Amino acid sequence: MIDFNKKIDRSKNNSRKWDGRKKFFGKKDILPMWVADMDIETTNVVVEALKNKADQKIFGYTMENERYIGSLVNWVEKRHEYILSFDKIAHSPTVVTSLNLLIKTLTNKGDKIMVQSPSYPQFIKQINDNGRKLIINELVKKDGRYEIDFIDFEEKVKTSKVFILCNPHNPSGRVWTREELSKIAEICVKYEIKIISDEIHSDLILNGKHISIASLGKEVESLVYTCFSCTKTFNLAGIQSSFVVFPTIETKKCFIDELILIGVHEPNSFCMEMVISAYNKGEEWLEELLEHLRGNIEFAIEYIDKNIPEIKVEKPEATYLLWLDLRKFGVEGEKLKEKLVEDGGLALTMGEAFMGEGFARMNIACPRYMLEDGLERLKKAFG
Ligand SMILES: Cc1ncc(COP(=O)(O)O)c(C=O)c1O
Repeated sequence: MIDFNKKIDRSKNNSRKWDGRKKFFGKKDILPMWVADMDIETTNVVVEALKNKADQKIFGYTMENERYIGSLVNWVEKRHEYILSFDKIAHSPTVVTSLNLLIKTLTNKGDKIMVQSPSYPQFIKQINDNGRKLIINELVKKDGRYEIDFIDFEEKVKTSKVFILCNPHNPSGRVWTREELSKIAEICVKYEIKIISDEIHSDLILNGKHISIASLGKEVESLVYTCFSCTKTFNLAGIQSSFVVFPTIETKKCFIDELILIGVHEPNSFCMEMVISAYNKGEEWLEELLEHLRGNIEFAIEYIDKNIPEIKVEKPEATYLLWLDLRKFGVEGEKLKEKLVEDGGLALTMGEAFMGEGFARMNIACPRYMLEDGLERLKKAFG
């Protein structure tokens, strides 16, 4: 049994979540539950692999190899029952790098790209910063659960060049059902709309199985660019690694040309060992982690329902993020942030960044003592 509740110390960890408190919230002595990484140690199998790599003492230029790409292929087949072809997979340092370069290779300036709101902030930023036009298909809440308004979806996507899907969805934690994904696929095939499918959270499904939209048939697969990464799954974002699965070898080539243009050639030495060890030997750790996350989610939701019932929160079906609906308190924007920071001593990611005014995102991937502290602070802010 792994002890996910043991005390952790990130004071010398160069952590954005912890060291960024002063810069982003104006105060150092607050509890940070914002950035989406875990206050949890990664699996020992990765630590061992990194130590072994360090022991080699030579860190010259690397070359991507079959062990690296193969570890993803085996993982996705084993966990998600989807068979990827080796030759259509490319390494990319991060998913955000991939989003940026896919936008550049698949669209021109002024083209429309659709996302669903609330949206992972980098989707919005990459579209805007690249001079593309942001189109929003707003998710609608039915009985507290986010669903897709397919009439609006079709109306808007048909004039777009690309649709960026977040599967599972950050920040709501929705795991799109086979029916929902099939409907998305059907509409995108009908209008030949390309799909960038960000599946970085796909290993963090709390119940059930992940379905890659590209796995739903040849027609849709020919339109999909899937982003995978083990960095959320195993808490390795600081080392960086990700993959893109392309519909064709030609589209992969265009992407690699673009990567080379910005000076990114091959994966770094540590990232390759990290991915290979995590995917080949990390599954047992992940199962235990998911159990811990399920426990934290149950605990947090029960606490909120009992102590701060004005906050509406749905149980996420995936991810370690709680999307808190704080609209009952009648404060938004900077005022809401101030309330959390000044009254509660708590740093959450504010909803505005996701186009979700009046909401805040709370990261519960931490030891239980920290979660308890965070919930008490949340209560204090709104008490
Ligand atoms: C949906 C989604 N995509 C991408 C990322 C970032 O991935 P990377 O660190 O590989 O750029 C995140 C991080 O929170 C995310 O939630």
